Amino acid sequence: MTLTQEEQKMIRNSWGKIITHSQETGEAFYRHFFALRPDLEVLFPTDLKLQTHKLLAAVTILVTKMDKAEHIREEVQKLAHRHTKYGVEPAYFAVFGEAFVLALAEILASIWNEPLKKAWQSAFQMIAEAMIAEMS
Ligand code: HEM
Repeated sequence: MTLTQEEQKMIRNSWGKIITHSQETGEAFYRHFFALRPDLEVLFPTDLKLQTHKLLAAVTILVTKMDKAEHIREEVQKLAHRHTKYGVEPAYFAVFGEAFVLALAEILASIWNEPLKKAWQSAFQMIAEAMIAEMS
């Protein structure tokens, strides 16, 4: 799967807004994720502040380099292997992506529309597919 130039542009533009609201984005994400899968809360540490920071930092790297897939391959491989150790299963990615998009819809409410949603869904799916491929 690849993203169109237009989708990459939309993602980069909206990312700036997310980063300036990283704490709120993280809180919204975990609120949605744990509402959808309360049983998976045990996988995460109690202090989610640091976790939020790490997640957004990783997504930033992946997002800003997504047009150069070969540059992030190694990064994604290592991230995937660490996730296997955290007890993460490939089946969890879909709901993780759902919570992520719901959180973005909240934070980016003023500019949110169907094309932006689709762009983020595709970007998440690309990263998820690459990670899942390393986990099997
Ligand atoms: C695009 C997909 C994902 C990205 C970019 C991502 C990113 C990260 C990052 C950067 C960390 C910090 C630690 C590290 O670098 O190893 C982390 C930790 C973690 N992630 Fe993910 N993650 C993704 C998907 C998932 C999914 C689907 C789950 C399933 C529930 C998950 C659960 C966890 C858990 C349990 C930890 C460890 C918490 C801890 O003990 O510190 N992640 N993730």
